[in-house]
Amino acid sequence: MSESPDRIKSMIEERFVKVALAPTAEQKFPVGPESARRLGYDPAEIDALPPRATESFAGVGNPLALGELRAGEVVLDLGCGAGMDSLLAARRVGLTGRVIGVDMTGAMVEKARANALAAGIENAEFHLGEVDHLPVDDGSVDVVISNGVFNLCRDKPGILAEIFRVLHPGGRLQMADILLKEDVTPEQVTFKGEWSD
Ligand SMILES: C[S@@+](CC[C@H](N)C(=O)[O-])C[C@H]1O[C@@H](n2cnc3c(N)ncnc32)[C@H](O)[C@@H]1O
Repeated sequence: MSESPDRIKSMIEERFVKVALAPTAEQKFPVGPESARRLGYDPAEIDALPPRATESFAGVGNPLALGELRAGEVVLDLGCGAGMDSLLAARRVGLTGRVIGVDMTGAMVEKARANALAAGIENAEFHLGEVDHLPVDDGSVDVVISNGVFNLCRDKPGILAEIFRVLHPGGRLQMADILLKEDVTPEQVTFKGEWSD
């Protein structure tokens, strides 16, 4: 029997509370600075962040490598987690720019705020919210970044509509995510068990 959307959402949230509070306990997917290095982040940039800002990194690629962020730009990080990409983006856009991170897991938002403080970053703010109802004004964003979040969301067209709403004309989307190339039968889903296996 398939899980209800609300149940899936609360399972996802429970899982990422754990990734925020006890990142080394996660066994099913890569978490932390070593994963970031493997995904192509500049090791010097990763090492320059406080360890708590990288220990809960759970991204699946490097959206910052997909295009240049310019000084003064407003960047929105969808599903920002503990904020590693947001903090790296904040350094790129500088004090004339701004980064807004949004995540539905309170423990992640709190950790991202603490990480910004620890890293001395003043131009990043973090909000509790969902990617299909962004707490952001229409046409107010230059670049949306996202790392590993779309695959966790059911209404992908709805999220894209939200991204179009908040980006101003000519704005950019730089996202990394995972794609399933083969069909999966209901039997395989049952056999697989947990959503994140
Ligand atoms: C795989 S983690 C990636 C976190 C971060 N982007 C990173 O690279 O470390 C996915 C994040 O998306 C958040 N998330 C999942 N579904 C969401 C939704 N519908 N709205 C907002 N955040 C969501 C989770 O709470 C989690 O922090």
